[in-house]
Amino acid sequence: MFITDDIKYVGVNDHKVDLFEGQYVVENGMAYNSYVIMDKKIAVMDSVDANFGEEWLANIESVLAGKTPDYLIVQHMEPDHSANIKKFMDKYVGATVVASSKAFTMMKQFFGTDFADRRVVVGEGDTLSLGKHTLTFVMAPMVHWPEVMVTYDSADKVLFSADGFGKFGALDVEEDWACEARRYYIGIVGKYGAQVQALLKKAATLDIQTICPLHGPVLTENLGYYINLYDIWSSYKVESEGVMIAYSSIYGHTKEAVLELEKLLTAKGCPKVVVCDLAREDMAEAVEDAFRYGKLVLASVTYNGDVFPHMKEFINHLTERNYQKRTVAFIENGSWAPTAAKVMKKMLENSKEIDFIENTVTVKSALAEENKVQLEVLASTLI
Ligand code: FEO
Repeated sequence: MFITDDIKYVGVNDHKVDLFEGQYVVENGMAYNSYVIMDKKIAVMDSVDANFGEEWLANIESVLAGKTPDYLIVQHMEPDHSANIKKFMDKYVGATVVASSKAFTMMKQFFGTDFADRRVVVGEGDTLSLGKHTLTFVMAPMVHWPEVMVTYDSADKVLFSADGFGKFGALDVEEDWACEARRYYIGIVGKYGAQVQALLKKAATLDIQTICPLHGPVLTENLGYYINLYDIWSSYKVESEGVMIAYSSIYGHTKEAVLELEKLLTAKGCPKVVVCDLAREDMAEAVEDAFRYGKLVLASVTYNGDVFPHMKEFINHLTERNYQKRTVAFIENGSWAPTAAKVMKKMLENSKEIDFIENTVTVKSALAEENKVQLEVLASTLI
């Protein structure tokens, strides 16, 4: 696949992965992208997951037309991209690795060698000339590991963006970009909004016509759309108006309160109501929706004087990712000592700019008439 006349795609699709990064369900698989830049000197951009080393090397071979690569540029050391560095360097004995100094520290940890006599250490703004193409390296620490850098090719106006602008899903499956890019971003990079903002500021100074990420499709058109979404996500702004209701129910009474609230919100014209059963739906999807919408209702039974485990896990996912700038309300249930709302609020006490709605709905065992009145008031407050 040609990205430009000189830049070719040599990545792979993974339909065997069970859980990406050990936790994310990826029904449509994953792509591990890699690119070759053909010039007087030839550079390969990143490697791929351990299970695809041979396929990747064969892909490279097929575009080289008998030549050999001069450089392997390593932007990120997470093993989905770095696993085959050693294999590549063993095959192409004349090649040099180009990476940040932190990346070389990790190479030593992963492979027992940091290629001391075959390497170029680069830092912010350093350049590498391949001939017609000059690559500029831009450090992007914590997007999503500390050694990460992105690379700009001024000849073809291409930004190689590492994990940035990546998504779940292999490239041989058609699916909506934003849905799986958002779940990927919030799940994997969501904590590092400030660092992504810093990178976006640097990227704004470049004339970019193509974005080549390490996952997901190469982006060539309407780049403002993607950059705008990244700006929203990384600054924790509300992307879509609406209310998300996340719940944990055991025998269905808490669920009944949730469905009643959903009905009331819809009747009052709420632009979007998303209801999520935390025990049964994909946790990463739930976390994504909490960040997408401006208002969140947390509904949980009281359990061992605490909240139900799935709700605890959900809130932990939110706070780990710097959940902020949102309106939050609570519904709790308890047959003798309801404490879930207090516990949930405490879990969010260090989250910035949370507007807590005061009228918590407390269900005692089953939904009572007074609860219906309280839910009506809550729905009106949320609209
Ligand atoms: Fe796709 Fe952070 O590795």
